[in-house]
Amino acid sequence: MIIIKTAEEIEKMRKAGALAGQVLSYIEPFVNEGVSTLELDNLCAEFTKNHGAISAPLNYHGFPKSICTSINNVVCHGIPAAKDILKNGDIVNVDITVILDGYHGDTSRTFMVGDVDEKIVNLVTRTEKAMYRGIAAVKAGKYLYEVGRAIEKYIAKFGYSIVQTYGGHGIGKNFHEDPHVLHHFSQHNKIRLKEGMIFTVEPMINMGQSNQVETSTTDDWTVTTADGSVSAQFEHTILVTSGEAEILTAR
Ligand code: MF3
Ligand code: CO
Ligand code: CO
Repeated sequence: MIIIKTAEEIEKMRKAGALAGQVLSYIEPFVNEGVSTLELDNLCAEFTKNHGAISAPLNYHGFPKSICTSINNVVCHGIPAAKDILKNGDIVNVDITVILDGYHGDTSRTFMVGDVDEKIVNLVTRTEKAMYRGIAAVKAGKYLYEVGRAIEKYIAKFGYSIVQTYGGHGIGKNFHEDPHVLHHFSQHNKIRLKEGMIFTVEPMINMGQSNQVETSTTDDWTVTTADGSVSAQFEHTILVTSGEAEILTAR
């Protein structure tokens, strides 16, 4: 069941979304060669707490840290660690979810560390563009599958693959609620969009030809590409309106 948010809830989602975006802006200057992902985690956790909010990932289904940090071939759900020190040429997705006044804001972006290989720079910039194409397809009265269709259409020409195992999600009082948002075209998303729906668009794009992913059997969280290729991701939380979707996590 997809929850339609009331005007009061939308106002709270705007505040939560804005704060999640603020955390990403705050952390950006710290994402450099030599920093550990655990340091990034500590900084984001502190900033979130100081702004009267809660880091949603911490203890979510047992997740052990406050943010997700996914380096290179890690697709999503990377766990911040002292041993994971960013090096020149790396890419890292930092995924922030905060709970403010009971409502969630969820946003991520892939940062580039130092001199990144041109092919990887292209993957990152095209993944961000793919997210915006998906968001641009959202409008009350249309079907949700237009998101996946727009992303697929844009990504097809590059020889990349779109991860299907994980998707976007409705969000509100809950971190994850209906609908499950696919980043490829599928009849499963033949769902009529209505004003007041709020969900994320968060495509994960692999450089390689395989969309297959694997979950670490050591930590049960870290998702990597099966072929070892690098993967990029961007995420916004958006509100369906009668016009252009409103990006609640815009910075
Ligand atoms: N923020 C992720 C998303 O975009 C979910 C992370 S779940 C966690 O849906 F437990 F790993 F934090
Ligand atoms: Co999300
Ligand atoms: Co997220």
